[in-house]
This record gives sequence, structure tokens and C-alpha cells, in this order.
Amino acid sequence: MTGARDVTDMDCPLDDLASWQRPLRAQFPIIGDHPELAYLDSAATTQKPQAVLDAMQSYLTTTNANAGRGTYPWANATTALVERTRERVKEFLGDPAPDRSSVHFTAGTTDGLRTVARDWLTAFLTDGDEIVVPYADHQANLSPWLEARELLARQGVGIRVRELPYQETSGDYDPAALAGLVGPRTRFVAATHVHHVYGNDMNVHRIRQVVGPEVPICLDAAQSVGHMPVSVADLDVDFVVFSGHKALALPGTGAIWARGTRGPRFRPGGWSGTPNTVGIAGLAAALDWLETAGPDRIARWTSALTSRLTDGLQRLAAYDVLGCQLSLAAESPTQRRTSIVTFRHHEISSGDLGFILFSDGFMVRSDSHCQAGTSDTEGSVRVSLHVHNTPEEIDALLATLSNLQ
Ligand code: ALA
Repeated sequence: MTGARDVTDMDCPLDDLASWQRPLRAQFPIIGDHPELAYLDSAATTQKPQAVLDAMQSYLTTTNANAGRGTYPWANATTALVERTRERVKEFLGDPAPDRSSVHFTAGTTDGLRTVARDWLTAFLTDGDEIVVPYADHQANLSPWLEARELLARQGVGIRVRELPYQETSGDYDPAALAGLVGPRTRFVAATHVHHVYGNDMNVHRIRQVVGPEVPICLDAAQSVGHMPVSVADLDVDFVVFSGHKALALPGTGAIWARGTRGPRFRPGGWSGTPNTVGIAGLAAALDWLETAGPDRIARWTSALTSRLTDGLQRLAAYDVLGCQLSLAAESPTQRRTSIVTFRHHEISSGDLGFILFSDGFMVRSDSHCQAGTSDTEGSVRVSLHVHNTPEEIDALLATLSNLQ
């Protein structure tokens, strides 16, 4: 990396939070081992703090066994770990009624959304029902609902899938347009908390006001859990689906939180086999680590870095930042982005730009980001941030991008 600026000229909250952030960054061994690199791909997967690595090592070297089967102490300890982690997930999400809700462990968000579609949604829809789902978010939050429609059609049940509308001015969902779609046959809404390409908070808390008290809402929280506060009480949703690996835990882990009070009870079907117990040990430690660090402060830190990057990119004529343009203005009348910025160079392909950036030590994602409903073959470069990232990394990235103009 080159072109780093002095840390003393930072604006708040980067100034205010610097002494909080520095020791947290030091807890990521892979980051500390590579000062020449900047990991800018946390929306794809996050790096792991030492406490998460220690928790998995400790589990594997002290009580590793299967859960819910044996009666000897290691098996009992593993069963208790799994049950305790379910309660930990509820607590982390601010569940106001943990006795009524349930938590089901999954392999990640894609697996979780597909499980909700297959094992719950298809069980209660009837001919003529309607569901509303996003057509320009991650493909994982569209395919399961379309697959559910196909499955039901094979059983002679015809449902209508309607498109959750977006606001052109701000990029989040459009409550007024949604109100025009909702009717007596609306049975379900799927939404995304933070857009994985544009970084917008999609303002899902507005959906409940539009759809009324009875319609279940399922939230893809892949880009919010672990990155910002997520409160099921504030959002008033019925499912929260997230990936452990985007919340500082291992790939192959994730969870579905189900409120359990709207629609039929969520009882994932089938024989689930051995759970990923070491992954669950890591997930519990990751949630503890995040809670101690403070999701609110993590969000303030990464949002400030995001603004620094978008403001810098706005000054570089060779680049277009994707998504709603209003949210890029320093005095934006809409909220600014949270930890994700995606852009294109006018002449350098995103694939080439990814290689060039890595030659200066920057690790970014460069493709079309699994976005649904896009015929984008050109791709783009996505920078996504977490608590270990620094203003110096952003300034060094901007310096490299500037040199490519
Ligand atoms: N779904 C992950 C992403 O958006 C992999 O990068």
C-alpha cells in the first residue's frame, strides 16, 4: 500500500473511535501478520478474531463430541453448547419473546432462505396467494421464492410472486409503491436489510407499517448481522437469516431466527444429521466478541470509512459509483452507505482493476456480485469494510485509484 495520510487529520467519528478501534484490529491475527495488505472484502467473508479461533480450538481439544445423542460428559457439554448458542442468537438479535421464538442452525444465508421457502412457506400457501420479494438484491433472496412457486405449481397450487419496489431517489424499498401491491391475498414479504452491492440500509422497518400486523416478513440479514445493530423488535420481522462467516465465524455456519407468532410454527423438516458443532462454538464466540466491541460502534466506524471512500471517489473523474447517486453527496438528503461501496473505472475492466489493486495490496471483489435481475456482464469492483479497516487503508486505496486515472 502507498499514499497513506496522517491519522491525525481524521474527522469524527474516526477521531473519537480511533483508540477503541486500534486494539480491536490487533485481535485479527491474519490482519496483523500482513501489514502490507488491506482486506477490503468483508461482505464476501469476514476475517476471524483470535477469540473465535481460540473458542474453536478449545472446543475441539476439550469436549468435542456429537450433540443430542450420547449421555457422557463431552456429549452433554456439546448439546449444552448448541442450546446455549441458540439462546445467544436470540439475545444478540434483541428478541423480546425468546420463549416463543426458535433458532435453527444452517450452512449460511442461502441455505437458510431456501429452508424457510421449502419447509415453511410452501406449507401454508394456497391457490391464488401472493408473495412479495426483491428482484434486484442478492440472488439468494430471489431463487428460493421462485423455486417455492415452482414446487407449489407442481402440486396444483398457483401463487403470484410480486416484485418488492425500490425508490429511485434513495435506493431503499418504496413503502408507497409497496402499499399499492399489498392486498388481502398477500401472505409473505421477503426483504434485505443491507444491499450487498450498494451498501444501502433498505429501511425494512417501514414494511410492517405497510403490510399490517399479520403478514410474515423474512429478512436476509447477511450484510447486517455482525456489521451493525440488528433488532428484531425494532424491525418487527418474523425471520432473520444470516451467515456466520460474515459475522466473524466460520464458513458453513449460519442461523434462522424465527419469531413463531405469524403463520404456522417453523419446524424445519427432514433429518438434519450432525450439526457443525465447532462452527457453532465459533459462532457463539463471534457473537460475544461483537457484543463486547459494540455493533453500534462498529457501524459508526465502517460508515465513516465508507463516507471517506465515497467522498474520495466522487473527486476522481475516472470512476462511477454504482447505486443511488443521492446517497453519495456529502450533504446527502438520504442516508449514506454502510460499509459497502461498488464502483467502475471508465476504461479499465473490473477484473483488471481487481488484479491491479491487489498488486498494491488491496483485496476487493470484482465481478457482478451475484445480484439478481442484472444482465451486467461488465462487473464492478466492490470494497467492503469491517472494524479492522483503517482511514489509512482508505486513503491509500484512493491514492492508487487516483494514479489510475
Ligand atoms: N454473498 C457474498 C457476497 O455478496 C458472497 O459477496
